[in-house]
Amino acid sequence: MIRIENLSKRYKNIHALKSISLQVAQGELFAYLGPNGAGKTTTIRILTGLTNLTSGKAFLNGFDIEKQTLDAKKQCGLVPQTINLDQELTVYENLEVHGCLFGMPARQRAEKILELLDYVDLDDRKDTLTKNLSGGMRRRIMIARALLHSPRILFLDEPTVGLDAGIRRKIWALIKKIQQNGTTIFLTTHYIEEAEFLAARVAFLDEGNIVATDTPENLKARLGEWAIDRVSEDDMKTQYFKTMEEAKDLSRHYEDSFTLRRVNLEDAFLSLTGKTVK
Ligand SMILES: Nc1ncnc2c1ncn2[C@@H]1O[C@H](COP(=O)(O)OP(=O)(O)OP(=O)(O)O)[C@@H](O)[C@H]1O
Ligand SMILES: [Mg+2]
Repeated sequence: MIRIENLSKRYKNIHALKSISLQVAQGELFAYLGPNGAGKTTTIRILTGLTNLTSGKAFLNGFDIEKQTLDAKKQCGLVPQTINLDQELTVYENLEVHGCLFGMPARQRAEKILELLDYVDLDDRKDTLTKNLSGGMRRRIMIARALLHSPRILFLDEPTVGLDAGIRRKIWALIKKIQQNGTTIFLTTHYIEEAEFLAARVAFLDEGNIVATDTPENLKARLGEWAIDRVSEDDMKTQYFKTMEEAKDLSRHYEDSFTLRRVNLEDAFLSLTGKTVK
């Protein structure tokens, strides 16, 4: 599990995180949503030991990330936001280097690499040079690499960014499979439907503050069930309604064109922050 208490981070003149607190239970799939610059990557970098916190505390499976750094690091695997595989190495060699860094003995390393390549459905690409893989394949290799030392917590920083809808779904299925094996998953994303589909709970992050933490259902229910989007002048206005009848009743009087639809998580974020996630 992950526990964060009053975590703050300052880079010189930027206050990137402003006293955030959060708990993610063992085996939970948790999504961390926010627009560009909200502080998502900073949070992950602190939790995985890549940068220092300024104040506050954080624990991975009970290990203090500052006082028990090595034990905390062993608990987690990281799939970073930018692809950082060695392009000149084969898929197998990329995983091999990582296994060596974690001090895995040769036999165990070889077994685990083959098992994970099979797991991410890339066993036929083991000897392919990484530079010859597609974007979706590279993401899957990064996930396999992060799982090599069998971490109990997996951090995924925008794991499907830039991928087409079909490949994105393939990665979602993989993420679900990893969770079903008991791994705690902490995921950041810009894709609201990704959070809605995958996560049991989400946190909304805005300018370094957590503005809400709840289930997608509860966050949406705060607004109602139905929404009407209307274009007025050069802006778009959205109204929310408890029932479809209520929405239809009111929309009879609208002269401009409008769209009736169900409330989504993006609405919940927008109403709490005044901005969109994208
Ligand atoms: N190494 C750094 N030095 C200085 N400022 C930084 C550094 N890393 C991040 N920041 C700043 O901290 C804030 C949060 O950045 P962060 O990368 O955590 O956001 P993010 O939510 O991951 O954004 P994105 O969705 O674009 O990935 C931003 O204002 C960013 O410019
Ligand atoms: Mg980021």
